[in-house]
Amino acid sequence: MEPVVLKENIYWVGAIDWDMSYFHGPVYRTHRGTTYNSYLIIDEKITLVDTVFAPFAGEMLERISRIIDPSRIDYVVINHVETDHTGALPELMKLIPKAKIFCTARGKAGLLKHYYGDWDYVVVETGTELPLGKRTLSFIEAPMLHWPDSMFTYIREEALLMPNDAFGQHLASSFRFDDEVENKLIMEEASRYYANILYPLSKLVLKKLDEVNKLGIPISMIAPSHGVIWRENPGQIIEAYQRWAAGEWLPKAVMVYDTMWGSTAAMARAVAEGLAAENVDTKLIKVSIRDINNIFTELLEARLLVVGSPTVNRSYLSVLSPFLDELSGLKPVNRLGAAFGSYGWSKGAVKNIEAKLEAAGLTLAGEGLEQLWVPDAGELKSCYEWGRALGRAVKK
Ligand code: FEO
Repeated sequence: MEPVVLKENIYWVGAIDWDMSYFHGPVYRTHRGTTYNSYLIIDEKITLVDTVFAPFAGEMLERISRIIDPSRIDYVVINHVETDHTGALPELMKLIPKAKIFCTARGKAGLLKHYYGDWDYVVVETGTELPLGKRTLSFIEAPMLHWPDSMFTYIREEALLMPNDAFGQHLASSFRFDDEVENKLIMEEASRYYANILYPLSKLVLKKLDEVNKLGIPISMIAPSHGVIWRENPGQIIEAYQRWAAGEWLPKAVMVYDTMWGSTAAMARAVAEGLAAENVDTKLIKVSIRDINNIFTELLEARLLVVGSPTVNRSYLSVLSPFLDELSGLKPVNRLGAAFGSYGWSKGAVKNIEAKLEAAGLTLAGEGLEQLWVPDAGELKSCYEWGRALGRAVKK
């Protein structure tokens, strides 16, 4: 339970959750656990920035105890109310009932409605400065990134940004810094995090990046509230966020489908071959056997989403519903969509999938493709050609 030094007298005192497998209830599957990052600043005023999830309060307090007696903490900064960062606050406040808690107005309202604590709140806003002694904290409100209460804390003298959830990754590791963990792994988890949490907030992300850029503040280190700290290359994650939020894409396609007796699966394979013939890198994903969070991660780069289902009860297979519902909430930016599927005596799947794609903000790349019962060689050739036409649309 050792703390980790970020800069002189600034420590990581968080917790590693190797077992976290579902985040936000059952919505977000985490395959590599997570960390809850809490930071301790030793100055004339001893300050803790964010806490950890309640079951890890003891781990956080033990790490702090290796540096100082936790009862000496003067200030607590709460960048974000969500319980993975404030769950340990009641336990901490038993030790420091007179400490001041710095947060946004919405942060205060949120904390009161979560913990009902009679604590000494100080409301801050963008531009508020908090001198600690040798260092000064500045606050930047970041509403809806990703909750209304969210804010970033910046330590001017260290050029150190603590943006809470932004720039984070659900990645448990023995190491705390980006230069200590394989970069591919970090970026995989950072993109998965963006695609499944921040995607619908992309316009706000762009605006906030622009605002921070205009402030002209140097950033030598980004210490988020999950995953590794960006010490070696903070610019890498800022550039990635810029790209993802702007909806930049590569000529790639993601095909998501399911099948009843194999006809839609056969169509899917033929369409995928057509896309490949146009040099479109295509991922074919049978939704019932795959993690839907991965699909959104793939969509972060892919221009085209193709969804396939046979018609059942005049619509698509219900196994596609969780994916399509999530899609309508995440609203990927600047993406094309298309639908296909087999049918028996009545159609309906393609029309309903197209409605879902359009409601999620995708632009249809062409007319949907429906085929009766089992596709013959000629119909599979049509699927292939339809895939090629989609491939050409992707590259436009
Ligand atoms: Fe929005 Fe990591 O909590």
